[in-house]
Amino acid sequence: MKGLFPKNFTWGAATSAYQIEGGAYEGGKGDSIWDVFCRQPGRVFDGHTGDVACDHYHRFGEDFSIMESLGIQNYRFSFSWPRLLPEGTGAANQKGVDFYDRLIDSMLAHGITPHATLFHWDYPYELFRRGGWLNDDSPSWFAEYAELIAKRFGDRVKSIFTLNEPQCFIGISCYDTFHAPGIKFPAKDCLAMAHNVMLAHGKSVQAVRASAPMASIGYAPTGRHYHPASEDPRDVEAAREATFAVNESDWTFSVAWWSDPVILGKYPKEAQEHLEPLMPRVKPGDMELISQPIDVYGQNIYHSAPVKADGSGHKVLRCEPGHAKTGFSWPVTPECLRWAPKFLFERYKLPIVITENGMSATDTVSLDGKVHDSSRIDYLQKHLLSLSQAISEGVDLRGYFHWSLLDNFEWNSGYNERFGLVFVDFQTLKRTPKDSALYYSNIVNSNGSNLKGTWGAL
Ligand code: FCB
Repeated sequence: MKGLFPKNFTWGAATSAYQIEGGAYEGGKGDSIWDVFCRQPGRVFDGHTGDVACDHYHRFGEDFSIMESLGIQNYRFSFSWPRLLPEGTGAANQKGVDFYDRLIDSMLAHGITPHATLFHWDYPYELFRRGGWLNDDSPSWFAEYAELIAKRFGDRVKSIFTLNEPQCFIGISCYDTFHAPGIKFPAKDCLAMAHNVMLAHGKSVQAVRASAPMASIGYAPTGRHYHPASEDPRDVEAAREATFAVNESDWTFSVAWWSDPVILGKYPKEAQEHLEPLMPRVKPGDMELISQPIDVYGQNIYHSAPVKADGSGHKVLRCEPGHAKTGFSWPVTPECLRWAPKFLFERYKLPIVITENGMSATDTVSLDGKVHDSSRIDYLQKHLLSLSQAISEGVDLRGYFHWSLLDNFEWNSGYNERFGLVFVDFQTLKRTPKDSALYYSNIVNSNGSNLKGTWGAL
């Protein structure tokens, strides 16, 4: 019988450096904008910081043993730019290089394949002081950092994602101010930063290709996702249209704004119409640089909104009252993993990897010492079945990384949102695999073939 998932499907779990490492002042690491942001009163829930986080900096061996025992053989992690380059450019920090050498060697020793994200938001503070992404040298700074990683670790790391969610590290950090650096910039400046960010992506692809030619390279954006309210082709078309829409007020989270230049080599036509006076200056050669060929298209997908056709346009609907939601109050919409990959594959024609998907819940350790997170199990089953539907409908899906391996520092929500398959007690740092970890382990080890039926029976 044909399985729900292709042979060689990549099953994994994901984290990022600032959210789990801790060791914020160890081994010569420089400050990132998140270190500085967390020290500012009122920025992060209850004044939490990533100073210790999950202490993965010292406990990665234990974390990889847990992964090994669960049979999760793929790990998406990120490098900390200021740990490797405390000033952002220039001399590499040998202790930082040594740390990642040990980390990667330990992963490999536990039979885990590394999938590295170059940048997951912890921008070096020293570069921020020089204008950050607004500085037109910023693409070259990033390329230098990418080259260092490719040269030092490319012998062991064969799968690299350039940027995680530019929508967030520009949109909700510089246009809105919930995330570091938390400074409001005019839209025109944000669009100029966005252009530099995409140039940085392109230059980093070139740098990695030059120094680690065997590596597979991807991009890991997110965006607003939509699914059709019904199977009616008009609703499907309306959801497709909504997925790639760009307008003046919500360009920061648009899929097309951040992915058309990178994959198709041009800004979406709609953007040019709606944002004309604000559009960045595009120099000759920029679009070619931005659209360097990549191997896989990653997308972080957590939920989607229903859409129906409305005359010649589309109408985004609200979920009905009482609709299931996560700890973060994000709607639970398994349809997102069927439709978003489908629309992305049609438009960008690249193999797709789900680089993040998951949910936060108010998990606790029960009297029996276990964590019974049935809502996450239910979420996993429904979302993965929905993903398998996209596969059966012809989408070239190559992998799924659950966010997250561990409960961790959830940005401005601090430790208030638990996304992990593994529970972390932030007082003792004790790890307890949740019921969902065991459930996911079953899925991974059977390549998803036991997803059908009720999860209670697994
Ligand atoms: C994504 C981020 C990730 C985590 C999850 C919940 O937007 O990439 O770091 O915070 O959301």
